[in-house]
Amino acid sequence: MFSIGPHSFTRPILLAPMEDVTDMPFRLVCRRLGADIVYTEFVNAEGLIRESVKAKKKMVFVEEERPFGIQIYGGVEDSMVQAAKLSESVAPDLVDINCGCWVKDIAMRGAGAGLLRDIPKMERLVSSVVKAVKVPVTVKTRLGWDADDIRIIDVAKMLEQVGVQALTVHCRTRVQGHKGDPDYTWIPKVKAAVRLPIIVNGGINTPHDADRAFRETGCDGIMVARGAITNPWIFREIKHYLATGKELPPPTLEERFALMLHHLKESVEFKGERKAILENRKHYSGFLKALPHVSQVRQELMVPETFVEVEAILLRYRDSLLTPDPITAH
Ligand SMILES: Cc1cc2nc3c(=O)[nH]c(=O)nc-3n(C[C@H](O)[C@H](O)[C@H](O)COP(=O)(O)O)c2cc1C
Repeated sequence: MFSIGPHSFTRPILLAPMEDVTDMPFRLVCRRLGADIVYTEFVNAEGLIRESVKAKKKMVFVEEERPFGIQIYGGVEDSMVQAAKLSESVAPDLVDINCGCWVKDIAMRGAGAGLLRDIPKMERLVSSVVKAVKVPVTVKTRLGWDADDIRIIDVAKMLEQVGVQALTVHCRTRVQGHKGDPDYTWIPKVKAAVRLPIIVNGGINTPHDADRAFRETGCDGIMVARGAITNPWIFREIKHYLATGKELPPPTLEERFALMLHHLKESVEFKGERKAILENRKHYSGFLKALPHVSQVRQELMVPETFVEVEAILLRYRDSLLTPDPITAH
């Protein structure tokens, strides 16, 4: 068990921060399905300071989401301090510093994973943020820049020293991006070196992967990213499997469609109709995964721009699945 601020966790399953994915409506879906901590998409520190509408909107959350973290990124110490203070002003449960983003424009400018190439700068930046705010500060990073430059043990020691409250390790290098197998072998060494809670991230897409991550690494928690897009039910499936050793049956058709429509409705309320309908298209494959004739329906869903039209397609599809065509059913 470990704590972040007033919240205690025993083997928590976290929803990863994901740009263009973990907005408030999707976070709520995952939280209700068992995610123990949810994070915003990463928020640009400079954007926050400029009061950009996009950056401010990313910080909007509702009480039901707690424990809720705001993730910020940037490569300039003063800006990160200001951004952390601005984040703190909306009262999240934690502020997370992104030290792992691999995207060229970010990493090559000394932010995100770029900080792994300048550990003294990472130390100054994180330490200044920790000192500037009362809210707990956590960090998400990678093993290192590339396979020849794995820094995670020293990084974890340094972060513990400066007062970070938990560390998420995406068990790939910056050079790997999001590809290739995560390497969990470093985590037991990190665990042996620090008392800081360690969250393992990378490649956790099934309850079996989750079990393996806990068993092989001795980590304190795990974080799921793409696995939550392809299957938002993964949080409760993992919990059930870890508790019982048995797999939960997949969600019923009624549950799937009710969840989808509820998510869509909340998205429309949060972002406005057209934006919500367009942005939610990315979630259809996950919500409808493995259902019969799904690719045809997904194509149909790419056309409408109103809630009523989407709802009609989904309900028609649901009803066709619940009452199979008597000719094809035999
Ligand atoms: C669409 C997408 C957006 C992402 N955005 C962020 C982000 O804003 N902040 C962050 O720390 N990581 C971000 N990541 C990385 C994930 O949080 C995670 O570290 C990575 O996908 C590995 O986990 P996985 O193998 O479970 O997908 C993003 C990943 C994806 C696929």
